[in-house]
Amino acid sequence: APPQVTVVGSVNRDIAIRLPRLPRPGETQSSCGVTARIGGKGANQAVAAARLGARTRWCGAVGEDGEEVLAALAAHGVDVSGAVRLPGTPTGTAWIFVDDAAENAIVLDAGANGLLAPDHVPALADGVVLLQHEVPDEVTALALATARAGDAVTVLNPAPFRPLAAATLESVDVLVVNGPELAGLAGSASVPATPDEARVLLAEVPGVEAVATLGAHGALIQRGRHVEHIPAPPVDAVETTGAGDTFCGALAAAMAGGAPLVEAAEYAVHAAALSVTGEGAQESMPDAAQVREFMTTGAVPAAP
Ligand code: RIB
Ligand code: NA
Repeated sequence: APPQVTVVGSVNRDIAIRLPRLPRPGETQSSCGVTARIGGKGANQAVAAARLGARTRWCGAVGEDGEEVLAALAAHGVDVSGAVRLPGTPTGTAWIFVDDAAENAIVLDAGANGLLAPDHVPALADGVVLLQHEVPDEVTALALATARAGDAVTVLNPAPFRPLAAATLESVDVLVVNGPELAGLAGSASVPATPDEARVLLAEVPGVEAVATLGAHGALIQRGRHVEHIPAPPVDAVETTGAGDTFCGALAAAMAGGAPLVEAAEYAVHAAALSVTGEGAQESMPDAAQVREFMTTGAVPAAP
């Protein structure tokens, strides 16, 4: 059977470094613990969709050290047959500093992700095609155009934020942005802190269905002139790394299952909320039964 969700995007080796607070210029700090994990926005979103039961394919690039990374994604149920291996290049790396307030700062070395090329992109004729901003813009543009030429539904999460070409935006069915990305897109100097502020900025992004994720404030869904707010259930946050990725993967999985956008976003808000209750990104992504249980009873599954 063809994949229901195809992600064209990054994979990284994440080095997560716990610190009391983020370092200042010239300062040396000792870490409270270092963890090596598999991450990258593309891979994270693919793992989220696969864990929630969608047949999911990830297409992207790894370097010489990539077999272990691909095996880890495959172990989460992700089809990695479309991966390309680029000799002479390392797999992407992200150094993630997480402080006691669960705030984070990330330094990214694109590695193989930066060498993903348009001719690495497979045929994308159907299902939901999910993209981020951790691979070159020409790859994203081509993937969107190919998906649009077929019957696929396209979802773009422009993270980390770079301005979007008008032609790229035209090939997007659903745009998913967080506060800073929404500000960037709307050309605003201030990041929206409340749903009301986000609503004002969303109005600056007409012509596309858009979802703004607002952390503990939940999400806003804009369709045409209609905007709906979905509040997030309160949870005790342990680590928020990958919460946005969990949201995107869950949204795509629900859409691939036929859910209308608002319903898919409600599902995604709950999946993302559960993911912040555990350490890590991929490590804390829930399965479909856990999300359904959380939505009906409010029960948070015990940490694995
Ligand atoms: O969104 C979280 C991800 O961003 C991390 O896994 C890291 O790899 C960075 O790309
Ligand atoms: Na987490």
